[in-house]
Formats: sequence, C-alpha cells, structure tokens
Amino acid sequence: MRIPEQKVEEILHSADIVDMIGQHVQLRKRGKNYVGLCPFHNEKTPSFTVNQDKQIFYCFGCQEGGNIYKFLMNYKKISYVEAIQEVAADLGITIDYEENRSGVLSETEILYEINEEAARFFSNNLLKNAEGERAKIYFDSRKIKIATIRSFGLGYALTKRDALVDYFVAKKIDINKAIELGLIGRSEKGALYDRFYNRLIFPIFSPNGRVIAFAGRVFETSENMAKYLNSPESKVYFKGRILYGLSHSKEEIRKLNSAILVEGYMDLISLHQYGVKNVVAVSGTSLTDDQVQLLSRYTKNVVLLFDADNAGVKASMRSIEILLKQDMNIKIVSLPSGEDPDSFVQKFGKDEFVNQINRAQNFMEFQFSIYEAQGKFADPVTSAETIRELIKPIGLITDELKRSMLIKSLAEKFNLREKLLETETEKILKKIEIDAKRTNTSPNTKAALELIEQDVSKREKELKPVIRVEKELIQFLLDGNPKVIDYIFSQIDLDDFYLLEHHKIAALIYDIYKEENYFNVNSLLSKLEEDNLQKYCLELSIEKYRVSDKWDSKHVVEKDKNSLKHLNDVIKKFKLFPLEQRMKEVLAEMKQTADEKSQLDLMKENTELSKEKKLIEQKYS
Ligand code: UTP
Ligand code: MN
Repeated sequence: MRIPEQKVEEILHSADIVDMIGQHVQLRKRGKNYVGLCPFHNEKTPSFTVNQDKQIFYCFGCQEGGNIYKFLMNYKKISYVEAIQEVAADLGITIDYEENRSGVLSETEILYEINEEAARFFSNNLLKNAEGERAKIYFDSRKIKIATIRSFGLGYALTKRDALVDYFVAKKIDINKAIELGLIGRSEKGALYDRFYNRLIFPIFSPNGRVIAFAGRVFETSENMAKYLNSPESKVYFKGRILYGLSHSKEEIRKLNSAILVEGYMDLISLHQYGVKNVVAVSGTSLTDDQVQLLSRYTKNVVLLFDADNAGVKASMRSIEILLKQDMNIKIVSLPSGEDPDSFVQKFGKDEFVNQINRAQNFMEFQFSIYEAQGKFADPVTSAETIRELIKPIGLITDELKRSMLIKSLAEKFNLREKLLETETEKILKKIEIDAKRTNTSPNTKAALELIEQDVSKREKELKPVIRVEKELIQFLLDGNPKVIDYIFSQIDLDDFYLLEHHKIAALIYDIYKEENYFNVNSLLSKLEEDNLQKYCLELSIEKYRVSDKWDSKHVVEKDKNSLKHLNDVIKKFKLFPLEQRMKEVLAEMKQTADEKSQLDLMKENTELSKEKKLIEQKYS
C-alpha cells in the first residue's frame, strides 16, 4: 500500500496547520503568528509558534519544528504515513492507495511490513508448528490463555538458528532492512542468522498497534543470560518513546482517566487477562520524559506499581520526579515483598488487586514511608535533610495550588511552620529555574546553530554583519513570494554567499523554484538532510516577535521587513561584501609587493573595484 506522492502534497496543501494544531494546543494570535504552550517541552510562557502563511510550526524553546505531518508524528508518536492518513481523515479526503511499489512508501512503512511479517512468523510457530507446543506449555504454566496469546500476538522463535532467514528469503524480503531492525544478524564471515531463536516472543506495538520491535524471553532464566533480548532501536522503534501495551490499553485509560504503570511485559499481559486494562509497561528502560508526555495525552492520573524490591523502589523514586515535572497526579502501590503485579493478581485475584489500587498512597506518603523504613527520621540532623528531600519533588510541580496543598500536608505531618517549608520550596524552585534556563540556551541544535556564527566570529569579527545580511536575504527567499524570489535571483550571484550553509540553502531554494516555479518552506525542509539546517530555516522562516513584558498583541514589535527599500538595502550590502573583501586584499598586496608591474595591476584592479562599488551603491539606494 502506497500513498501517491501527488496525494501527499494535495493533502498537505488542503490542510490548515493552525486548525489542526489548534485541536491539540491552545493557540493565540500574536502578530503574524499563533503562539501557545509547547507540547514538546515543559514551559510557562509560550514559545511554540505556528505560522499560517507558511504552514509550519517552530518552538523557539526546544527547536522542534516542521509541517503538520511532522507535528502529528511527534505529537502522537505515529509514522509519516499514519500522519498523512490522519490529516486526510480530518479533511475527509479519501486516499487511493497504489498497489505497485513506485509510490511513496516511506522507508518506515517498509520496516513496519517486515516487522509484521516476522510477527506473523513467530505467531504461526507457536500456534501452528509442532515445535511450538513447548511455548504453549510454557504460557499455559503461566496461566496465559490462548485468547490472550492471540490478542498480544505472542509467538515463538524456533530453535533452528536461521528459520526466519529462510522465511524472509522465500518471501523476498529485503534482508538488509531486516538486519537494520535487529531481526537478523550477519556474522563476520557473512552468514545470516536469526537474532531471536529458542525464545518466547513479545511483539512491541506502536500506540496505533503496528509492530515496531520484539522482546524475546528465554524459557529458563539463568545467571549468565539476560532474561529478555530486545530489538535494538531503529527508525520505527525509539525505546524511550514507547510504552508497552498502550495500543491495547489506550481506550480504557481514557475511559477510566487513569493509568497503571507496571514494569514488565508479563505484568501487563496478566493484568489484561484479569480484566485490568488501563495498564502500560515501561519495560526495559527507566521511565523517560517522552513516555510521560505520551501517556499524558490519555490521562494525567497515574498509579505506579513497581516491584517491591530495592530496584523497584529506586525506579519509583526516579519516576516520581519525571511524572511530577509534567504535572501528573501520582499514586503509588507497594506490593507485598516478593510479588510483582503478575504474581499478585494470579495469587490473589482481580478484586484484591483492585483493592490495592484503591488504597494507593500519594507519592509523599510513599516517599515518607520509605525514608522512615530507612531510619532517616531517627535523628534531627538526617531528619532535616530528609524533609528537604521530601520537598524537592514538590518544587517540580508547576500547579501552584497543588503545590501549596502538598506543603500544607507536609507541614502538618511534621508540625512545621508552613512558612519554613515554603522558603525551602522557593529555594528549590529558583534552582530549577536556573537549571531550566541553562538547558534552554544550550540544547544541541541551538548550539550547532550558534556554532555557525561562533566559528565565523573566531575567524574574523567583521564577518558578523555579512552573516546577518545573508540571513536576511535568505529570510526574504523563505517568504516564498515569487516576485521577490525572481528579483533576488536576478540580482545576486549564488556564489557570493560567504557561509557554506547559506550557500547550500539558497542554492536549494533556487533549484526548487526553477523546477516548480513555486517555493514554499515545506518543500525545502524535505530536501534538507541536516537536522540543524532544517531547524535553522524554520527559525529564520518564523520571525520571533519581540514581545514586551505586558504580553499582548499591541506590544508586538515588528520590523518593516517587507519593503522593497529594505530588500534593496540587503542586496546592496550582500553585493558589496565580496567587493570590499577583495579591495582590502588588494591594498594589502600593494603594500607587500615591490614589483612595479604588479603594483600597477593592483592599482587598476582597485580602481575597477571602486567603480563597481559606486555603481552598486547607486543602483540599490
Ligand atoms: P522482570 O525480570 O521483572 O521480568 O523484568 P518480568 O516481566 O516479570 O518477566 P517474568 O515474569 O519473569 O516472565 C521487568 C521488565 O524489565 C525488562 C523487561 O521489559 C521486563 O518485562 N527486562 C528485564 C529486560 O528488558 N531485559 C532483561 O533481561 C530483564
Ligand atoms: Mn514477573
């Protein structure tokens, strides 16, 4: 199934980015742009900007940006093709898929297909192959029913070392892609082998239910072998962005407006079988910001249900901070020691499990009881430190009301004056704010962009103005007005761009414009390979409006950027720069050379250059 390229464009052109993003982010008009709180990072003042003319978004805080497809891919953690389908559905456009392989099948779509093929293979091994009997027996011993096996697509990887290789070869599947997905390995001698063999297979799904990776569990656990083998990260699988089971649980999570967070695949599957269906598993990694962001689309209420061992407590403590940062409401259940959710529900049944959930502690009580068990309140010195530890997570909560309620309950608990606790919280808040500023000014992309300038300023300070001029010229081009683009390209020589990056961007714009007689930032973005350059262009395309402290649209300061006079001024400076550079060189050479003939030549050249300079100055004034 492919979506024809034309259709992709058509859908993109019919969509309105403000409308579509507006369904997920509250936007306010500000000058030419719309702004709102960025859904991709935590912020209190809006730096997330949407430009309707250019149909792009860009966040000045976290440098996330692109067109509506990019937004949906990141926001919903879906594939490119799914994003196209989503926009099409929203617009009521039906897509006629192409059956041949020539249309747009994004590379990721091919990867999905290979994963789905592998999942089918593993599942058939379990359900239909005689050798699969032992896997059936295993799941049976763990009380997993056939219906559950089917619903989670559980499978079995045969003991033969190249069963999947043979299957893929017979199916004419691109082996290199299967290697990329970590399904197949290639030995140094070039022999192909299955990476998953002799294991129970758990497919890992995207939120939309596509197979993106696998986990393979050994039958018998042993000291010297990891219990689970997981697929490596790939173009379709980002560990830290996936919650296992979300595809199966999302409806229920929405319905109950609450999610139970567990650690393991088996925990989730077992709970589902017992009818507890609002569960997701972190599985393998410790909880990440991205995972919380993903979950927060479905609910703000989370019950943490980690194993009662030491590692589980540690994981809970860490997770609490990550969840608080995104304003999630957290409750925690500590299971009796030695139990995990799977064993608990198997042993005590659903009702008792639900009881446990209903008796969940709030996170402060939980932390308190852990610290207490560790004897931290035994003497006054450690006690004071521990109270500070307890306050720390409160500082992460942005909701002021919630914060003060927690402080109040903490104060009651310790008989402390609230004021004291508030001062402590303030201190922590300050620190957090400073940390946030630090990371905000130096995320990798921003740094890379600044590098362009830094590098240059190291070479020569005088280059700064020309960089600025080149930037402005590119901004004019990015605006996409055909008249302006024609005019600029008729006046300048592309080779005069001093900065390599600028030259590259301008040349691409030139190519696109020549070919299509039309230019729009979106078509440029898809042709720029480097992430940094994409972000750079987005940043240049969306003018950041300087806003006064009063923060309303009347105070937006806009430069008069559209006048021909201004454009001519920019072109003038752009053209003068190489001339002036050459003039400087000529003067320097004149000083150095004693040879009369060369002196004369240099003088001639200098005169020529001066004339040219005057012409340019007149022409563009
Ligand atoms: P557990 O060891 O608790 O496994 O690891 P489990 O899920 O309860 O499995 P059973 O009940 O023994 O069959 C919890 C989670 O940590 C990840 C897996 O996601 C697992 O579900 N993990 C664990 C790995 O990724 N690799 C490992 O080697 C072990
Ligand atoms: Mn377990």
